[in-house]
Amino acid sequence: MASKRLLPTLRRSWRNLSAKPERQFDRIDRIRSFVLRTGRTTTAQQRAIDELGPQFCIPFQDQKLDLNKAFDGSTNPKILEIGFGMGETTAAIAQLRSQDDFLAIEVHPPGIGALLKRIGEMGLTNVRLIQHDAVEVLEKMILPESLDGIHIYFADPWHKKRHHKRRLIQAAFTRLLVSRLKSGGYVHLATDWHNYAEQMFLVLNAEQSLINTSVAAVPVETFGSEDIAQEGGAENEFKPSRAQLESHHLAYVERPSYRPITKFETRGLKLGHGVWDLVYQKK
Ligand SMILES: C[S@@+](CC[C@H](N)C(=O)[O-])C[C@H]1O[C@@H](n2cnc3c(N)ncnc32)[C@H](O)[C@@H]1O
Repeated sequence: MASKRLLPTLRRSWRNLSAKPERQFDRIDRIRSFVLRTGRTTTAQQRAIDELGPQFCIPFQDQKLDLNKAFDGSTNPKILEIGFGMGETTAAIAQLRSQDDFLAIEVHPPGIGALLKRIGEMGLTNVRLIQHDAVEVLEKMILPESLDGIHIYFADPWHKKRHHKRRLIQAAFTRLLVSRLKSGGYVHLATDWHNYAEQMFLVLNAEQSLINTSVAAVPVETFGSEDIAQEGGAENEFKPSRAQLESHHLAYVERPSYRPITKFETRGLKLGHGVWDLVYQKK
């Protein structure tokens, strides 16, 4: 009987990464930037979780992480990626930039398996994964001024206006992000949703410690006067000011060559959809 009682505890190891992970997020009442889709973890992904999880996954902890230790003592630059999806981009960049270490965060269990599978197939050693809400990881596990770069590619755009409060890129979250970056570190964002791209540059341009590396100023096209912030509006939901709507802003850069064009992106580009890259440097 005792062993029966122990079994659930034992199974809560890597094998159980795909089982009801929403229980981990009970305390999140800030930005609800993700929904846990019920996508199936394939047999190959589960095998990767079982075999490579113990080596490459770092469990969430309410305690600061020693980043060099997490990468077996490597003192190489540390790049954090938020929401890596199935890890196609993460793995390609980690292979290309073998002199950097990549801490990749995702909540979606099949994505964890998919990236681990790529790590195994490509023989990568410079990637670590955390399966948890990135906001909490940044707050609890990442020391201030410890990151050399942050990647956020195709963050969920939350198209509908009533869902805009679920967008990750808001002023308070940006302050948290920037606090974890070293001076001289960078933030690289990409999105295929124009309205979110505009929110990104309006929010990040307003952050005093960031420099937009773009050289071209553009007007705001997708927000209108009906979107303007009301006095006392919520801080965690971006709304533009009238002055912002009436100005031009430094905004986008050419896609940096290290960011590959994903299959999903190629499909969108063929349909004539835009993709916007933004790169900021911390003063
Ligand atoms: C639209 S997908 C993009 C995935 C990938 N970056 C790409 O370019 O294909 C956004 C991903 O971000 C993840 N995500 C959203 N909010 C997150 C959070 N707070 N912490 C960790 N992952 C998050 C979602 O689960 C989802 O897989």
